[in-house]
Amino acid sequence: MDRHSQLHCRFAVAVLGLAASKACADPPQSALHPAGREAEVVADLFWWMAGAGFVIWALVVALAIYVSLPGRRSFSPRKTRWLILYGGAVLPTLLLAILLIYSLSLLPRLRDDADVDLRIAVSGERWWWRVRYPQPDGEGWLELANEIRLPVGQRVEFVLSSPDVIHSFWIPALGGKVDMIPGRTTYLFLEAQRPGVFRGACAEYCGSSHAFMNFDVVAMPPAEFEQWLAAQAQPAAEPDSELTRRGRSAFLANGCGACHRVRGTQADGALGPDLTHVASRLSLGAGLLPTETETFRHWLQETEALKPGVRMPAFGVLPEEQLSAIAAYLSSLE
Ligand code: CUA
Repeated sequence: MDRHSQLHCRFAVAVLGLAASKACADPPQSALHPAGREAEVVADLFWWMAGAGFVIWALVVALAIYVSLPGRRSFSPRKTRWLILYGGAVLPTLLLAILLIYSLSLLPRLRDDADVDLRIAVSGERWWWRVRYPQPDGEGWLELANEIRLPVGQRVEFVLSSPDVIHSFWIPALGGKVDMIPGRTTYLFLEAQRPGVFRGACAEYCGSSHAFMNFDVVAMPPAEFEQWLAAQAQPAAEPDSELTRRGRSAFLANGCGACHRVRGTQADGALGPDLTHVASRLSLGAGLLPTETETFRHWLQETEALKPGVRMPAFGVLPEEQLSAIAAYLSSLE
């Protein structure tokens, strides 16, 4: 944590108490611990607004205490008029005008579309994220899901959309948020300034699993990012054991491929998240569970209980042995 945010942390602890001190350790989802240029602008605005609000509050409280002191003579009519005119009209108008001009002056820095290095298309689905990158060879798009990786120090343009309901795309530590609106395309420009793992969320109520619609954001050095993208563009790994081979057969035989794509197999569905490298992600089910064999199995068995309203049916009816094999296969897709 740099000195700047340490200071802010101390201020937050002083004002808000213990809750803030706990959150200050290393928060992945805090707009007050910016890791990007845009988030820094928003955090600065917050601190100025909070500071100005605190000063006005302190003045009002001091005045209220002063006038209620015992034995104090009342103000003369002239003084009262003066107080109402300057304290009640001139001062607030001036302060609000200054804050308004300051916040408007920040807007160009938040909407700066010059020098975009990378374009990432994200679509809000029910209730997960479809993420498309330009193919490393420059031909068409590479579709991934539920995790966004970014090169540090490069300006990224997010092209946001939704096929059905309104979502809102927000990565508090990097900046945002912007609505994803059916029938329209919206844009968000972000630049990560340091490597790290952050958390993004849907910030607009969109249905029964709105609260389970999160994603991991990994900001990485550009060279590592290129490597990662090239690896994601590869087809899925071939099963390397008897169990995972059976898992792949069960996956294909039970119709999973109607909704999911696993590049390199017959599974070519586009309705649900792409699973080609699902086990390389930090989470399963859009920020819900870690990607382990056990959690894949849990997800297959109790999809609806884990994510109410999800379109994927639960596969708890399958024999134990098939569930274990599919879970083993999915967790081998790194
Ligand atoms: Cu998507 Cu709330």
